[in-house]
Amino acid sequence: MARDDDMKAWSPDRWRDHPARQLPHYPDRQALAAVEAHLHDAAPVIAIDDARRLREQVAEVAGGNAFILQGGDCAENFDDAVAERVARLSRLFDEMAALLRPEVGAPLVRIARIAGQFAKPRSAPTEKRGSVELPAYRGDIINGQGFSAAARAHDPHRMVRAHLQSVGTAAILSVARHGQKPIYTSHEGLLLPYEEALTHRDADGRWWATSGHMLWLGDRTRQLDGAHVDYLSGIENVVGIKCGPTMEAGELAALCARLDPEDTPGKLVLIGRFGADQLRAKLTPLLDAVKGRNVAWIIDPMHGNTEKVEGRKLRRFDAIMAEIEGFIACCREAGVHAGGVHLEMSPDDVTECLGGGGPQGPSDLDRAYRTACDPRLNRAQSVELARRLAMLL
Ligand code: PEP
Ligand code: CO
Repeated sequence: MARDDDMKAWSPDRWRDHPARQLPHYPDRQALAAVEAHLHDAAPVIAIDDARRLREQVAEVAGGNAFILQGGDCAENFDDAVAERVARLSRLFDEMAALLRPEVGAPLVRIARIAGQFAKPRSAPTEKRGSVELPAYRGDIINGQGFSAAARAHDPHRMVRAHLQSVGTAAILSVARHGQKPIYTSHEGLLLPYEEALTHRDADGRWWATSGHMLWLGDRTRQLDGAHVDYLSGIENVVGIKCGPTMEAGELAALCARLDPEDTPGKLVLIGRFGADQLRAKLTPLLDAVKGRNVAWIIDPMHGNTEKVEGRKLRRFDAIMAEIEGFIACCREAGVHAGGVHLEMSPDDVTECLGGGGPQGPSDLDRAYRTACDPRLNRAQSVELARRLAMLL
């Protein structure tokens, strides 16, 4: 923590005093300021009371009495058919929950990657095709997917459009849930100007992100003294921490202390994403490092199992299942509750991951490879995963 922080109380804009990775560069400062002012006065995407409810549910997970099913697109898009997507995704959650619920023997907490999952961290700042090099695509909230200088320019006005789409998506989700189990919203807390503008106080003066019920810290932006950690340390929402293979035990302990100094149940969800091969070696010391803390541990079996074949990303169902299986086994050995899964999944018949009843080989991926970023399980693969997960539980 920077020493200044000891004196300067947290505020939604304090992240600006910290080094920030993965943020866009907006050349037009005036346009950015206008967008920020607009968003500050715009409608919240979610209700603070619902974000508070999610904290209570996650506290149950941390206590070993509930299970998180989190999933959705790697990245949402501006041309998504919002109402239809919500309906289809809700149905997929229902199908998976019907398989899982009896085996879990405890409430399922449903959380979608939706209504704000627009900004993507990237491994490389640029993309090269032939001799042309352009800024990388960073998600529709920042720039466009098209391979042209105009599309790839960082445009602050895209935040306004993302916000509107998110408000609509969250509204449809909350209408759809009347009489059903709620589906909470979540996204990576990456684009800090957007998050800052949508951070508001509750009646007790506490700060909440109103961009989504749960925000998570990405694996590339988890520097202890960094801007993203600083921002997430001040909000009351459930906060996820992606734990990749380079995370060390001391680092995780320090992150937990920084993001949740009072060790409140329901505040932190630790999301392992190591890759099937590395899971056991990497997870065990991390489980130890935070043993006794009130955290929920879940597994993201997607992001550590990405391969590149002929320039295209793919994931294998068997590796995904192997990481889940290893996670459950390690948690059992350590006496820790295996608290859930975090998936990239689509309710559509996409062909982005291999196996699990889906495409057999890389050439079968051509038919419906539609993701804007990472490969998702399709509907059938997601249901198959839930079936096998139920057996493991
Ligand atoms: C993601 O969840 O889409 C993502 C980028 O994850 P990670 O930060 O774990 O790589
Ligand atoms: Co992803």
